[in-house]
Amino acid sequence: MIIAQLTDLHIGAGRRLAYRKVDTAGALEKAVERVNNMVPRPDIVLFSGDIGDLGIDAEYALVAEILTGLEVPYFMVPGNHDQRMPLRRAFPDATPIDTDQSFVNYAVEGYPIRLIGIDTLDEGRPEGKLAPETLDWLEKTLSGDTEKPCLLFMHHPPIRVGITHMDVQNLGEGAARLGRIIAAHKDRIKAIICGHVHRPIHTLWAGVPLIIGPSVAHQVALDLDPVGPSAFVMEPPAMHLHVWDQEQGCLLTHLAYIDGYDGPYPFFDADGKLIV
Ligand SMILES: [Fe+2]
Ligand SMILES: [Fe+2]
Repeated sequence: MIIAQLTDLHIGAGRRLAYRKVDTAGALEKAVERVNNMVPRPDIVLFSGDIGDLGIDAEYALVAEILTGLEVPYFMVPGNHDQRMPLRRAFPDATPIDTDQSFVNYAVEGYPIRLIGIDTLDEGRPEGKLAPETLDWLEKTLSGDTEKPCLLFMHHPPIRVGITHMDVQNLGEGAARLGRIIAAHKDRIKAIICGHVHRPIHTLWAGVPLIIGPSVAHQVALDLDPVGPSAFVMEPPAMHLHVWDQEQGCLLTHLAYIDGYDGPYPFFDADGKLIV
């Protein structure tokens, strides 16, 4: 099973450029085309937050318009640039929460790996938060099915990555309890995937792989200077392809660039000889 993670779209209404620089609508169109043209095509797309830039209806209307071209089912969790109700209104099928839920928490069943979306949005604040209701729901959901492997997806990472201006807005409240819940189910949780940092970053947390995905638009500058400025760069837009290999029982994460590049070139000639 192949899961494409598209994150941090930051779509502006009327195709407004993000930070007066980034054509985020154009970037999403390219990402959709890239996913559609992949062979084999991903089975599902997970959008891990910052779908909009201000979280307003007009932004989600534009996202919805672009996603009419996406030929793969998709699901979403909100990021700090989103607003819960406008997002849910625009994408009810992609945010399939139970009626007793006020947060965008849900499990996607019917695939070889269970996909669990977790809402870290603290509306109006850049940093993330897990409400007690969310953590209770997660505990119950993980206890409900103790057989199947799981993949958790959410916007804010629960760790510091060494980029100061992002670290001050990571997942704060609720992160410690999340760690305890995950550690209790670590054999079944194959990874937690996040967005928010706009860079591919990998580590181990609470006994499971924690994988942060690159943005499909702009990236945060790789600057580990503790007093470095808050800045973005136009490194190549990319996505993570998470491949669940049932036979090996492991999740493999590939980085896939979205823009075109030279190749592929063969290693061997028509006679099967290595080209030297
Ligand atoms: Fe973002
Ligand atoms: Fe974010």
